[in-house]
Amino acid sequence: MALSFEVLEKDIAGRIGRLSDGKKTIRTPALLPVINPHLPIITPREMQDMGVQALITNAYIISRSSEFRERALSEGLHAMLDFDGLIMTDSGSFQLSVYGDIEISNQQTIEFQQAIGSDIIVPLDIPTHPDTDRENVEKELAITLSRLREANGFADHTHHTLAGPVQGGLFTDLREQAGREISAMGLKFCPLGAVVPLMETYRYKDLVRVVMAAKRGLNPGICVHLFGAGHPSMFALAVAMGCDLFDSAAYALYAKAGRYMTTHGSYHLDELSYLPCACQVCSTHTAETLQKSPDKERLLALHNLHVTLAEINRIRQAIRDGVLWELVDERCRGHPQLLRGYRELLTFGEELKHQDRVSKRRFFYRGTESCFRTEVLRYHDMVTRFDTKKTALITFDQKMHDGYDTVFFFKPPFGPYPPELFESFPIGQSEIPDWDREMVRSGCIGIDRLSKANPEARITVRCRSCWKDIVTSTAPDVEVDVEDL
Ligand code: GUN
Ligand code: ZN
Repeated sequence: MALSFEVLEKDIAGRIGRLSDGKKTIRTPALLPVINPHLPIITPREMQDMGVQALITNAYIISRSSEFRERALSEGLHAMLDFDGLIMTDSGSFQLSVYGDIEISNQQTIEFQQAIGSDIIVPLDIPTHPDTDRENVEKELAITLSRLREANGFADHTHHTLAGPVQGGLFTDLREQAGREISAMGLKFCPLGAVVPLMETYRYKDLVRVVMAAKRGLNPGICVHLFGAGHPSMFALAVAMGCDLFDSAAYALYAKAGRYMTTHGSYHLDELSYLPCACQVCSTHTAETLQKSPDKERLLALHNLHVTLAEINRIRQAIRDGVLWELVDERCRGHPQLLRGYRELLTFGEELKHQDRVSKRRFFYRGTESCFRTEVLRYHDMVTRFDTKKTALITFDQKMHDGYDTVFFFKPPFGPYPPELFESFPIGQSEIPDWDREMVRSGCIGIDRLSKANPEARITVRCRSCWKDIVTSTAPDVEVDVEDL
């Protein structure tokens, strides 16, 4: 059956959703582990027992294998893999991008994926390398879109869901346009393609630009899959942009290379004296016994998959609680390139603030980056609706004062607030450390917005002398009344 996607809860542009074909339902964000049919290091049945609801495998490899081709056609993919969750198949495009040429047509791969009973099928898109020039990106994108139109014309939409990969290289206008065209085709499931080379080289800033552009073009009701994203340290960032699914071969590839994953990066097992995890593998081994185990690769893969799945659950909980920014902030400090990606995402605040939810459980100030969060931008918009009357005092000491028509208190990084709003979001739910210049400057943007929205009013800011220069430079229309104790 074709899939339907329903968004249940939101935070930033991230969402908890339900992807269902009527019989099988998965909760998103979700991870689809990549299964190599030849030698699954962890079997699909074991994965199902670990909570995996969907997986992805490669239809091209199956179609080229004398052993698996006939079995997949006669038994069906679900029986062959012994997995009754959702199965997505990739077309061979990835092989195309690595080996240059493959012996299968768009129509053949779609027909084969349907014949083996795949739930989500992928046409033969062209994963254009990010460093390709514009002319060639345009050419390849045109081919991808025409193959997608072709597949959309003859695919069996009753029994399968056709995925619409979004390509376009590093050109954000092409990514956006591709997203728009694919939305117009009526597709409900879109992987964002050719981002693996960006992630392999830690180009998270480019990744953010490309994903944000594609998302801008895509209809918000579409389920979005980030193709080939498998390291848990970047899931929170990707979910914050509105990615719903990941597929990972990383748990197995890292294990093969002797690498031990954590949410803030990975270690070579030889570097570890202690195991910072309490999964089944790590609680029954020491770093030393794991290094020496003849089963090391499989045990590492089990640990890596465990860490990856746990991170997905942590993200779901963060969305539910409205604390996804806190998690993004935490994860993106694991690597300077992730921090670049996070800072790039914050430059999209004006777009993101419209998608973010109105109220959250809490706001923790975690440094300058927090000043650019959607909650702060939304608050600065809300300030323009406060009425100052003729004379207003904004006091940094949070005490009532006589002689003004209205009195506002001040909480950085947000800005002025009427005292009666002290318990409402975000004023009442925000925790900040001792004031620093960046947060006060951000709060003064709120003061400036208030004064610009009430041009007739006389507004006085009462603060200590140390803040005066920030107030006057950020909110030039207000008077400052310095009060040092
Ligand atoms: N796997 C990783 N990236 C891609 C992509 O861009 N297209 C397809 N079909 N598979 C992928
Ligand atoms: Zn572990």
